[in-house]
Amino acid sequence: MLKPSVQAPLITARGLTRVYELGASQVIGVDSIDLDIPEGEMVALKGNSGSGKSTLLALLAGLDRPTSGRLVVADHDLLEATEDDLTRYRREVIGMVFQSFNLLPTLSVLENVALPGLLAGHRKESVDRKAMDLLSWLNLSSRRNHRPAELSGGEMQRTAIARALINEPLIIIADEPTGNLDSTNGQIVIDLLAQLNREFGRTVIIATHSTLADSYATMELRIKDGALAESKCHP
Ligand SMILES: Nc1ncnc2c1ncn2[C@@H]1O[C@H](COP(=O)(O)OP(=O)(O)OP(=O)(O)O)[C@@H](O)[C@H]1O
Ligand SMILES: [Mg+2]
Repeated sequence: MLKPSVQAPLITARGLTRVYELGASQVIGVDSIDLDIPEGEMVALKGNSGSGKSTLLALLAGLDRPTSGRLVVADHDLLEATEDDLTRYRREVIGMVFQSFNLLPTLSVLENVALPGLLAGHRKESVDRKAMDLLSWLNLSSRRNHRPAELSGGEMQRTAIARALINEPLIIIADEPTGNLDSTNGQIVIDLLAQLNREFGRTVIIATHSTLADSYATMELRIKDGALAESKCHP
């Protein structure tokens, strides 16, 4: 039997719009974006400050809701989703990495990494084992009992990457992951994200002002004033 040659994209947005209400005035964060992202891409999301990159990523990650349009990610309709659906979606489908790391200061490295696994209801023993494997891969085993304040910036971001991976997400979304790092550590973080894409087939979406990810990106999206201005695919 013939297989369909074109798979449905992992991410489909149509007329995706997010308007912020500020008192009587409105600010457009994302403006009528139409977008298809197939599984397995490494996407570099570019655009000036204030162009809507973080807004778009927050919608894709299920951290925020669109005002209107359509957004389906891995068969999850994010406009129709209940709060519980979104919580599960964020936990199971998405791994998120932020510029400011967002680690919990009172927990150790190991506890930070394990937490989303425990929240997803997995057994502590297997979560801890997976967390230790991730820390070893990220060259952080010796830091497992440190608190975030006792780490370098690069170590904090690698801890955040381990935390993003603990539930084996289909999609890794990184918002300016190198913004608080020097160029050496920024390159290490981008290399790790590229390795997740190339060797482990994860779809990776990175909003960044830097050019560090350019050589790895299979797709480049540029947004301007909330609208998609350019979409380029690299072979
Ligand atoms: N919570 C909010 N309330 C009101 N307006 C917001 C909010 N968040 C973002 N905006 C506005 O939405 C627009 C897009 O902001 P966004 O943070 O998505 O830009 P960005 O491309 O990520 O910028 P940067 O490169 O500086 O991180 C901006 O005009 C911003 O002021
Ligand atoms: Mg931003």
